[in-house]
Amino acid sequence: MRFGHFDDEAREYVITTPHTPYPWINYLGSQDFFSLISHQAGGYSFYRDARMRRLTRYRYNNVPTDVGGRYLYVNDGGDVWTPSYLPVKAELDHFETRHGMGYTRITGERRGVRVETLYFVPNGENAEIQRITVTNTSDAAKTLTLFTFVEFALWNALDDQTNYQRNLSVGEVEVEMDSPYGSAIYHKTEYRERRNHYAVHAVNVRAAGYDTDREAFTGEFNGLYDPQVPLSGVSGNSIAYGWYPMGSLSVPVELAPGESRVITVVLGYLENPDEEKWADDAHQIINKEPAHELLGKFATTEQVDAAFADLGASWTELLSRYTVTSTDPKLDRMVNIWNQYQCMVTFNMSRSASYFETGIGRGMGFRDSTQDVLGFVHLVPERARERILDIAATQFPDGSAYHQYQPLTKRGNLEVGSGFNDDPLWLIAAVAAYLKETGDWSILDEQVAFDNDEALADTLFEHLTRSFQHTVTNRGPHGLPLIGRADWNDCLNLNCFSTTPGESFQTTENQGGGVAESVFIGTQFVLYGADYAAIAERHGLPDVAAAAREEIAAMKATVEDSGWDGKWFRRAYDFYGTPIGTDEDTEGKIFIEPQGVAVMAGIGVQSTDPTTPEFAASKAATALDSVGEMLGCEHGLSLVYPGYTTYRLNMGEITTYPPGYKENGGIFCHNNPWVIIGETVLGRGDRAFDYYKRITPAYREDISEVHKLEPYVYAQMIAGKQAARMGEAKNSFLTGTAAWTFVAASQYLLGVRPDYDGLVIDPQIGPEVPEFAVTRVVRGATYEITVHNSGRPGARARLTVDGNSIEGRLVPYAAPGATVRVDCTV
Ligand code: GLC
Ligand code: GLC
Repeated sequence: MRFGHFDDEAREYVITTPHTPYPWINYLGSQDFFSLISHQAGGYSFYRDARMRRLTRYRYNNVPTDVGGRYLYVNDGGDVWTPSYLPVKAELDHFETRHGMGYTRITGERRGVRVETLYFVPNGENAEIQRITVTNTSDAAKTLTLFTFVEFALWNALDDQTNYQRNLSVGEVEVEMDSPYGSAIYHKTEYRERRNHYAVHAVNVRAAGYDTDREAFTGEFNGLYDPQVPLSGVSGNSIAYGWYPMGSLSVPVELAPGESRVITVVLGYLENPDEEKWADDAHQIINKEPAHELLGKFATTEQVDAAFADLGASWTELLSRYTVTSTDPKLDRMVNIWNQYQCMVTFNMSRSASYFETGIGRGMGFRDSTQDVLGFVHLVPERARERILDIAATQFPDGSAYHQYQPLTKRGNLEVGSGFNDDPLWLIAAVAAYLKETGDWSILDEQVAFDNDEALADTLFEHLTRSFQHTVTNRGPHGLPLIGRADWNDCLNLNCFSTTPGESFQTTENQGGGVAESVFIGTQFVLYGADYAAIAERHGLPDVAAAAREEIAAMKATVEDSGWDGKWFRRAYDFYGTPIGTDEDTEGKIFIEPQGVAVMAGIGVQSTDPTTPEFAASKAATALDSVGEMLGCEHGLSLVYPGYTTYRLNMGEITTYPPGYKENGGIFCHNNPWVIIGETVLGRGDRAFDYYKRITPAYREDISEVHKLEPYVYAQMIAGKQAARMGEAKNSFLTGTAAWTFVAASQYLLGVRPDYDGLVIDPQIGPEVPEFAVTRVVRGATYEITVHNSGRPGARARLTVDGNSIEGRLVPYAAPGATVRVDCTV
């Protein structure tokens, strides 16, 4: 069942009913000011950091889930409703939400009044704009009053939810009914003391009244669904002194039949330098000049429309770097629009603020952000460069890494600390992707601090060396890498042995003497070690490259030997040296992570022609066959099977989840692409594409009632085959799945992949997509690639470049400005 449809032309998902199975959200903003907005106008705004600079209040764990947002109440002759359906829930004659690239448009109509609100954050501005169009669709004159609504958060979102003894006494506002461009409410809590920022909520017309005190607005016993002021039709002109500061402005609107009126609402964030904080000597009135300047930019509809057009143009430019035209509209819309959009959102948010992440929890993850680079490096290479250098600066001198760092300070997070032994290798992955995309080798010579200490700074290349060496020098009894706290799987805590309720599996001190080893890190080392060697080679260090290749060969042999279980790769060895992910166990027999990455790294790959006997006998094919059989179901590939039914002290958090959920056998979408890519390495594009479709939201749109979350973005997890609610997704938007599925689809299924010296063209998508064309802009040149695809297992591309057939599958990079035509037959 669907709750809407895609509008690919407009790059929108159109939700046609308020009654989706969960709030379906979007993000506004891409630089410093951000908003989350659901299809019912729920959500909140923040400046840079969702914890430290929260502008508006939102309650997680709320009942119902999604009350709290920016609302517009309509009083139509005593009939009070909200065009976003929530919070009033008055039935609408028409409802539609369109989520687009950095904007959302919500339309509600009731009894002859149609209200369409366009929400967006303009490029370069620290403000959310609402362009509200009210239309009288009836044949009688209408006299309406509109009431805007936002509730202010007292900046620090954690403190805002915990420190009531103080906070209920500190709230302060100012009201400016005759502001130069209409009427405005200023939220200035703590501005008198150590803050130099405030928020403004304004309309571009002279309002009839205002409210800034929440209880005055709602009434003592009412909620946002039946607030007294909109019901009465008259603002209370209330001033907040502590308690709960909010902003509401009332605007009377008279409309003849068929007439429309446009009103603009602005929510802005402003800062003043210390010496310019005040407009009066008594320090009671804030300096509103920067706010007036902001409001002056959005005073007319023309200005708003121009800013909106500018936003659209920047997205058109961003999304022009990789486009596909195929016979499969679902594939096209995911690759061209939504997957890339999600990559930008994960770039901006990391794992901080979503409807599943509160914005007050985690900082940025070392491994999360480095993997995110793989998905957005082609969109914003300059910002990828900055991100890589920021992350590298949190690395410790011994090559290990802070697991998380704080976006505002860009420093490592002491509370979470270090010891996740996969972290260092992801830095190599990010730098390799950056170099392949840009050819900017100068990044390797950048001086980058260790542990944020400039005195310890060395080149970025040296950081990569320490990453590589960290694995070399931290190995266990089998010669496999020590796992430390955990590897990619945060919940496989083999040294933790936690028996105390509430203790964190990620930070509680590990039991000493741990020799637990990770097969996964072994496969990761072989994969990214090869990049390290390739980079060293091109960096003029052939000896370093040769030595690295010896280490890699040794690790490859170790994985094939101690890491092999008979029909798949094992996952790990625990504290006692007992294998994990083995047929010998009753549960947790096979894990997904090492299988895909091993094949990506070429481990156990004897042949890439599925028709040969060597192929069938190879470890790579055997492992991926086992994945399909044991981990597969219609909704994707589970992380482990069978999921653990009891808590295992020696394994940690993974065994705390009910089987079928999260790391314990959920379909953890992040690592499905590793298997997808592995299948393309083996020349089985049909299987790869099949796996891709199982987790990709556009293909799941028809089962939205089961999937539950947005059909336009990936979720971190879909409940696996042992779960009662198999197929139900959780944690949409902020997941490494975004980057990895984009890599899998764009570089391996469609097969257009930047390498160090040229663009590799190597499609492996099976017979379902017989013809397609890709346009790829890389290093300033444009590649127009046309593919005729038999989809035959094992078939490999033959290329003609600008009319001349070439050997192999590497198209050398052309000069910036050039257009290169590639004809590809598979
Ligand atoms: C979450 C974390 C990620 C981790 C994964 C598996 O997605 O953000 O770092 O790899 O879970 O545990
Ligand atoms: C990752 C995992 C999650 C775990 C968390 C701990 O995000 O996905 O299951 O609880 O890490 O920080």
